[in-house]
Order: sequence, then C-alpha cells, then structure tokens
Amino acid sequence: MQLRVATDQPWDVKADVLVIPIVGEPAFDGPLGELDRRSGGELQALSAFGELRPKRFTSTLAAPGELGARRILTVSAGPAGELDRETVLHVGAAAQHRLGGRHATSVAIWLAPLADALEGGLAAVAELVARGVVEGTFDPKTLYLEHDDVRTAPPILDELVLVAPGGDAAALTKAAERGVIIGEGANHAKALSNRSANDITPEVLAQEARDLAAKHDLWIDVIEPDRARELGMGMFLAVGQGSDNPPRMIVMRSGGEGERDALDRHLAIVGKGVCFDSGGISIKPADRMEEMKMDKIGACTVIAAIGTVARLAPGTPLLALAPAVENMPGSHSTRPGDVVKALNGKWVDITNTDAEGRLILGDAMIYAERLGATHIVDVATLTGAVSRAFGDKITGAFGTPQSWYEEVMAAADRGAERFWQIPLVDDYVTEMESWYGDLQNAGTAEGSLVKSGLFLREFRTVPWVHLDIGGTGYFRKTQPYAARGATGVTHATLVELALAGAKA
Ligand code: BES
Ligand code: MN
Ligand code: ZN
Repeated sequence: MQLRVATDQPWDVKADVLVIPIVGEPAFDGPLGELDRRSGGELQALSAFGELRPKRFTSTLAAPGELGARRILTVSAGPAGELDRETVLHVGAAAQHRLGGRHATSVAIWLAPLADALEGGLAAVAELVARGVVEGTFDPKTLYLEHDDVRTAPPILDELVLVAPGGDAAALTKAAERGVIIGEGANHAKALSNRSANDITPEVLAQEARDLAAKHDLWIDVIEPDRARELGMGMFLAVGQGSDNPPRMIVMRSGGEGERDALDRHLAIVGKGVCFDSGGISIKPADRMEEMKMDKIGACTVIAAIGTVARLAPGTPLLALAPAVENMPGSHSTRPGDVVKALNGKWVDITNTDAEGRLILGDAMIYAERLGATHIVDVATLTGAVSRAFGDKITGAFGTPQSWYEEVMAAADRGAERFWQIPLVDDYVTEMESWYGDLQNAGTAEGSLVKSGLFLREFRTVPWVHLDIGGTGYFRKTQPYAARGATGVTHATLVELALAGAKA
C-alpha cells in the first residue's frame, strides 16, 4: 500500500472513497459545508434523514456529486470532548472494515475534523488513522481461504491518501509510516493467533519466531524439553508433558546480551503461548473449547512486537520470551495434586491443571531475569474471570512497583490502548498456600483474578506488570472496526514501551 499525504482540499482529492469523519453533531459550515455543497446537498440531506448520527463508528456510504472521489463514506467519531487516541485509531479501522466486500483500491481520509479535537493534531491523527486502516484490513477468514473468495474481506488498497490541507507533508508521511508499521505488527500477531492448533504447534510457533529473527537479525534461542529439564523449568515442563507436540521455550533478543537501553533497562516482554488449552486432566467443558486455540495470543503478540521494534528502531535492547506448550489430557499429563519444582526452586502444588498459564509464565519470567531482565511485562489470556469482570474492551492489569505500572500505562496511552488496574492484595496470599508445596496454582473462585496475579508475583524479583487479555485478546463478535478473532491488543503498548528506550 502506497501512502500519500495530499495537501489539497478534500473535495479536490481523487480516490475511490473519501472518508469524512463526523465529530459530534455535524455543523455544515466551513469545509464540511463546502463538501456538502459540492456533493449536491447530499450530506445535509442524509443528516436531515437521520443518518450521520454522532454515535461512534456508525457509518454511511453516499454518492459524491461533484467531489473528486467516487464515493463518500462518513464515519462518526462521537462527541469532540470525548475524542481520544483509541477512538481515532478505530475511526480509521472502521472505515476500512465498513468497505468489506466492496471494490476500492484507493481510500482518502480527511484528517481535519479529528485533528481539531485531538491532542497532537494532524501528526497524531495521521499515525493513528493509518494504523487503523491497516488493522481494519485484517480478516481472519483470509488465513485459510483465498482473499477473493471471502465476501466480507476489506479491500486490499493500492493507495491510502491522508488529506491534510496546509499540512506538512513530509512530517505527516513519517508519522503515518510509523502507524502502518505498528498496524502491520498487530496484524502479524493476529494472523499467528488465529491459526488453528492443528496448524500451529509449539514447534511451528518456534519456527515462525526463527523466521522472524532471521528477517530482522535478532538473536534467538529455542529451549527444547531436555534442556528445560537440565535448567529446572519444572512448571513449564509439567504443562507441556501431556501432549505429543513437545513444548518450546522461545527466547528472542534485539540488542546485545544484557545490554541496557536508553532508560537503563533490560526490558523483557513475556507472552503466554498455550497453543491449545483443553484444561488438561482438569478438562474444560466442551462449550467454546474451540476458542482455546487462542490461548497463545500473548506469545504471538510478544513475537510480533519484537519484530515491530526491530523495524522501527533496530538494535533497541529488548528480550521477548514465549513459552509455547499444548495443555492436553493423557497418560503422561500432569495430574491435579502433582507437586513440581519451579525454576526459582519453589515447590508448586498443581491443584488445577487448567491454571496452566501462570505455570509456564512463572518459569519464563525467572529465566528472563537469568538473562539480565531488569523490567518485565507479561501478556496472557490468563483467566476467564477478567472477561467476566471487564468484558472484551478493557484489559486487566497488575503491577509492582506502582512507578513501573505507571510507565507501562504511559506507553498504553501512546499506543491508544485501555487498561484497568487490579490490586495485588496480600491478604489473599494465605489462600494460595498448599499442604505440600510453597504454594498452589489455583485457589477458590472468590477473588481468583487477584490470586492469579499473586501467583505470578512469586516468580519475579524485578519491576513487573501483568496484562490479562483473557477478555480482550479476541472478539467473539465482529465490531464496527474489527473482524471477530484475535485483536492484536497490547502489541502497540509493548512497542511503545520498548521504543521509549531506543537509543538515538
Ligand atoms: N486460558 C484460560 C483462560 C481463558 C478462558 C481465557 C476463557 C479466555 C477465555 C486459562 O488457562 C484458564 O483456564 N483459567 C482458569 C483458571 C482457574 C482454573 C483458576 C479460569 O479462568 O477458569
Ligand atoms: Mn487453562
Ligand atoms: Zn489457558
């Protein structure tokens, strides 16, 4: 896709579709009035008819009259006072998603209505809208089917035109290019995440990581079961041992061994890679079990994120760890009540084999520290509880110390993503105590979300944030701005966090 910044007026721009963002109630003065006049009064007529509602992400396709574009697409962005970065991102994605199944090769988006209401103005909007268009192009149905056979697939664009009269074309192009690269990284994460468990085994995911490492000149080490046993990764092995597809601890690095970044950090991002979570012997009910091929989203996201960082700022110090396993029942499987030794020497009583994510993440985080990590963020579809509490639009987040949590949240703002903090309440630690080991991996249902964080907290010593994407990792239903399936959530946050430490 070619990017072009047009400093012409929106009515002069030539494209298959001109996207007109509607912010608040449309007022037909200024350039929107001019667009209306040149469209032959189409926009005002639509407004009078009850279209062009301010409700976020509603959209209308209309005829262009005398405009340079061949079609108009309005996309509502909600009230001006509530316009945030996430909304702007989703306006770009909604435009492209709305064009699913339509024939268009060039789309132009008029930036001014969004730039007038968003901090950061045209440059911020150019980046977010371009990223949104790229992310909105993704359709999981095209993973196995040919694009042209998928009636819902958004069009593959030859050209995206960002319309910014009087804007600085060079600066806006640069901003938009950054957005495109972040969007492509999110799509990479989504493409890996959506692939089925018969397609992506732990070894196949490791091979994807090796290919990415070769492409971007990253260091990679894939730890197979024999070495994991020598190292003492008892929790990681316990989860993987029930499957004929053996586990892989995937470790990637950009920059040098132990190298500190510009913020004096050796940051590690760690993602849960359960290629299929049947629950193991504590087997899950059949209802929706097919969704558990998505239990590797965290791993796919950290792998994609280190690739994106390598594209935007090669050599930035960063570790990515993706413990990849299949959690299956069988005669070799871990049984409820099995007691295993973690990499940090703690004895863990596996009371529930379906609380497997925390086991593989625990060993991965300890290993990250062995490799010199000074700061850790983990991403995991860890609990069903987080989706019951927050649904599919808010990621649950834990962290300690609070200053590190705030740094990650600042990156989330830049990345246009939304999190909500869950407290790590020490009072519940006693409920994680075991009769046999130092702790057990699952307690009672009450407070289970907090307890999941408390368990993980035992397996790191450095500043740490845990992002539970059990609700936000994938959409069960299509959204105005996204297809169903993996969402790419946290990719942008991780990229922004790592890039904050990029060396000049
Ligand atoms: N992968 C699941 C969590 C999950 C469920 C994510 C549904 C997305 C949708 C995780 O491994 C799990 O099974 N968690 C258990 C933990 C419990 C046994 C303590 C849960 O949430 O029920
Ligand atoms: Mn599970
Ligand atoms: Zn799981």
